[in-house]
Amino acid sequence: MATGALPAGFLWGAATAAHQVEGGNDNNDWWDWERDPRSPCREPSGAACDHYHRYPGDLDLLAGWGLNAYRFSLEWSRIEPAEGEIDAAVLEHYRRMCAACRERGVEPIVTFHHFTTPRWLAARGGWADPATADRFARFCERAAAALGDLVGRACTINEPNIVAAFGYRDGSFPPGVRDPVLYGRAVDVLLAAHRRGAAALRAAVPGLRVGVTVAMEERTAVDGGEARRDELRAEMEDRYLAATSGDDFLGVQAYTRVRVGPEGPRPPAPGARVTQMGWEFRPEALGACVRRAAAVTGLPILVTENGVATADDAERVEYLEGALASLAACLADGVAVAGYLHWSLLDNFEWNDGYRPTFGLIAVDRATQARAPKPSGARLGAFARAGIPAGPGRA
Ligand code: BGC
Repeated sequence: MATGALPAGFLWGAATAAHQVEGGNDNNDWWDWERDPRSPCREPSGAACDHYHRYPGDLDLLAGWGLNAYRFSLEWSRIEPAEGEIDAAVLEHYRRMCAACRERGVEPIVTFHHFTTPRWLAARGGWADPATADRFARFCERAAAALGDLVGRACTINEPNIVAAFGYRDGSFPPGVRDPVLYGRAVDVLLAAHRRGAAALRAAVPGLRVGVTVAMEERTAVDGGEARRDELRAEMEDRYLAATSGDDFLGVQAYTRVRVGPEGPRPPAPGARVTQMGWEFRPEALGACVRRAAAVTGLPILVTENGVATADDAERVEYLEGALASLAACLADGVAVAGYLHWSLLDNFEWNDGYRPTFGLIAVDRATQARAPKPSGARLGAFARAGIPAGPGRA
């Protein structure tokens, strides 16, 4: 297999999010959502992967494969359990996590908000309250000041486009709202929170590289769906991409392709190969989204999430190879890509879908918390050592 030339310092790693892996995050809006009769959530997150305590062993596995980056998130509701109250012991925990990465030659990439919102903040109107942008910036400033230069890169908000659309347009994530006015307000507040959060992070840690992550899809127009596709791109991607000027990188998160007809998004074509999420198996979607993100923003791209929900690890390896081939084609065309972080390090709590979909490079026994590394993790490590396969996969 040919080896692609990689930029110096290319990041190879995996990602998680606090609520999906830590366990016991009982002071945020998701903990309540998991028990809300209105919610479609299959099961509560409970002890998750007990990563709050088991992170050293999990990092050993990641570093043992030869990976050099780990993206994880801070749980705001642990750090600031009530408005204005900062728990120094929790900040110390996250400092130890960053230090544990460094000791293993792994760059910690820290996300400051990944879907979960402290209960006190949800009670004050969450992302629909304009004051939340400043509350978030204040949290960023305090947390970053404690972590200091142990942090490699910072992501402000994970997928503000999903937080707004699922939480305030579709009602499928907390707070379960379907209201066009509140949706519009949440978009504005999330964008302001990113900008003010980024400024606060830079003020706290001069020189820190900061960006936001955006959920992207390869959107293909079918049966004359071009206009609707463009509207969806504008709503779900472009206004978030436009808010990145001055950022150091853009985090692209891409999993699949969606066909768009004049009436809107369509399910995968009959007979299409789908994943455990019901999404089309489409590794090349990564390259398509990276190209679009780079063309629209002009920023270096960090792939902050990409992966597949499957019970068959050989299928994960196939997906990984296809996705990396599409990324190699981007690099060959001169697109600036800073790294690739696979979703996810561990099989974990997949939000409303509970523990059924398995995205991990490491399986977790739900009864014993025993870890079983999968061959896909070693395969990712082999790419990290040898480079990306150059090949087809241009989307
Ligand atoms: C989210 C992750 C999630 C993944 C797979 C992304 O939208 O950031 O938290 O687990 O997709 O659904």
